[in-house]
Amino acid sequence: FTTRKRWVIGNWKMNPNLAAAKNLTQALITELSTTPIQQCQLAIAPTHLHLITISSLIQHANIPSKIQLVAQDVATQRHTGAFTGDISADLLIDAGTEWVIVGHSERRTLHHEDEALIELKLRAALDAGLGVIWCVGETLSERESGQATAIVTAQVTAHTQLLSIIDPQKFILAYEPVWAIGTGRTASPEDAQQMHATIRQVLSHIRPALNETSLLYGGSVKSDNAGLLAQCPDIDGALVGGAALDADSFLQIAKAFD
Ligand code: G3P
Repeated sequence: FTTRKRWVIGNWKMNPNLAAAKNLTQALITELSTTPIQQCQLAIAPTHLHLITISSLIQHANIPSKIQLVAQDVATQRHTGAFTGDISADLLIDAGTEWVIVGHSERRTLHHEDEALIELKLRAALDAGLGVIWCVGETLSERESGQATAIVTAQVTAHTQLLSIIDPQKFILAYEPVWAIGTGRTASPEDAQQMHATIRQVLSHIRPALNETSLLYGGSVKSDNAGLLAQCPDIDGALVGGAALDADSFLQIAKAFD
């Protein structure tokens, strides 16, 4: 028996403009008003610029299953001040956000975010009261050289101290193998399940309460492969990129995990 929550989270990345983001949100609301998702929690991560608008659309929607709002990034520091271009966790909360994605491979690669910076962001978010969707995953060369488990384990254990005090309600971990992101190449359910089981073991070893952490898989999740992933005992949901830009596909993935 598990009390683990199931999640399907859409990471819109730097994609829809304001009109498209509003249409997509409205399409989700319309579909959910006739065909609700029962158990699986839904969340979407628009660009920072659209958070306030999307938050207001969601809040005024008359649907039984709530859509939660996620930011794609957060500043490392919490105090107000001279931080041109940065957006703090407090400002994100002010805009209606409940969660933030930290450690995404695109931030690790394109913005050179290392474990030290990721730790600062995790702490800033958690201190302010945001939940964190914390991403880990190996590259193709790391997988091909047999290092996938070691790399992912190291990404998790780099933050053991934080994990030993983290509020389990505010923590979701997403395994996103870098080679599967946006490539159309999904990890096989067996490989994904195996990595999730390893991560769950590592987390439980740090602290038994973390056994109940929701572990999401991300990397080319589509409506036609979500069913098999959803059957894996340690896969509690999906972090979806491309397929989240289409309301039907996104909700079909959610139904697979519902
Ligand atoms: O954060 C989700 C993401 O990186 C996966 O993207 O397009 O492969 O579903 P995609």
